[in-house]
Amino acid sequence: MLQGKTIILGVSGSIAAYKAAEIVSGLKKAGAGVKVIMTKGACEFITPLTLQTLSQNPVASELFLAPKNWEVEHISLADEADLFLLAPCTANVIGKLANGIADDLLTSTVMATRAPVFLAPAMNVKMYENPVTQHNLARLKQYGYREIEPEYGVLACGYQGKGRLAKVEDILQAVKSFFRTKEDLKGRTVLITAGATREAIDPVRYLTNRSTGKMGYALAKAAYLRGAEVKLVSGPSALKVPFGVEHIPVESARDMYKAVMAHFPECDLIIKAAAVADYRPVAVACQKVKKKSGIWSLELERNPDILYELGQNKGSRILVGFAAETENLLANAKGKIAKKNLDFIVANDLTVPGAGFGVDTNIVRIIDRSGRVEDYPQMSKLDLAGIILDKAAALLNIDRKN
Ligand code: PMT
Repeated sequence: MLQGKTIILGVSGSIAAYKAAEIVSGLKKAGAGVKVIMTKGACEFITPLTLQTLSQNPVASELFLAPKNWEVEHISLADEADLFLLAPCTANVIGKLANGIADDLLTSTVMATRAPVFLAPAMNVKMYENPVTQHNLARLKQYGYREIEPEYGVLACGYQGKGRLAKVEDILQAVKSFFRTKEDLKGRTVLITAGATREAIDPVRYLTNRSTGKMGYALAKAAYLRGAEVKLVSGPSALKVPFGVEHIPVESARDMYKAVMAHFPECDLIIKAAAVADYRPVAVACQKVKKKSGIWSLELERNPDILYELGQNKGSRILVGFAAETENLLANAKGKIAKKNLDFIVANDLTVPGAGFGVDTNIVRIIDRSGRVEDYPQMSKLDLAGIILDKAAALLNIDRKN
């Protein structure tokens, strides 16, 4: 996937510097040529020899060493880079870059490169949240730098919060995404809904369903990898938002309705993988409802049908729905295509193991407007996302030709 690409990895002085070894290995496994620049601080945490051995290239760290040849090192490394990755990246390096300070080999090389720069911060939560750091990051983003955001968790300093270096697999994914090969959705905006909605009963209770968001998040990731600008309207989910995707968090069906209606006009393709609650409590209690003896009846009323509403207003946009059924899969799904004016529908039978809620795979039947049915065997949700996007892209291109 990264064959023929040269990644310059800049490592600065964070305890997470040891993870640079894994990053170098991952980049090499993906086929990239890797050259490493370390700051003095980084060399205190991990030896250049480790990264030199893994990258199979000399590690550079000194700006003013006697030259081995007549190439100016920071300029030649800057020119060689197809992508510059700063991981881990300290507040100090972020601050220097944001203010044009180039007082060591790493910062000089970054300033001299025309390659895209990705930076993965790693630091104490208070340092990360410090307005100075945030201001510096915002400034760098304005100049086109891309941040691979740190994670929440227990930090090496003992504090808990946001500041832990992003997972190595996410860092590698961000780099691979940049070199994605299939770009058939470039220039297209795709809106995807995912996860379950929550319908409040009182301040502590809500009605929901078993959707985890896995299907919708896989679609968002796949669409981004194919070049689309992706908006992910998602109910509460424990999943990490895929790199590069715009996350629009919502809670209730009515929140989702508002978000989808606000964003769909600028979209070319809408895929509704969310499991939206059809009903909500008529009244939401202001205080926690106290236990009483006997039966508690909850009165419910209908939520807006977002997909139906989209179908009425879709114009030339491509609209894809899902059908989650426990019986009469085909008949119910076909009914939804006509009623909701869909281009096609992806039907999953929730009673089949390996399909539907919570699992990493799905088993679906895809039905188009003409009633043609295609059956797909069990596959990962990411692979299925690829198939759904192939179909949608084909429809979009037909549209484009007309
Ligand atoms: O999130 P996972 O754990 O990965 O699970 C995946 C999934 C099972 C949720 C997914 O594959 C799926 O089937 N999503 C649709 C679930 C659903 O609500 O199906 P439905 O048959 O009730 O609704 C039909 C369609 O109308 C869906 O596209 C739904 O998003 C939409 N809808 C439903 C109700 C409503 N009020 N507004 C809507 O837009």
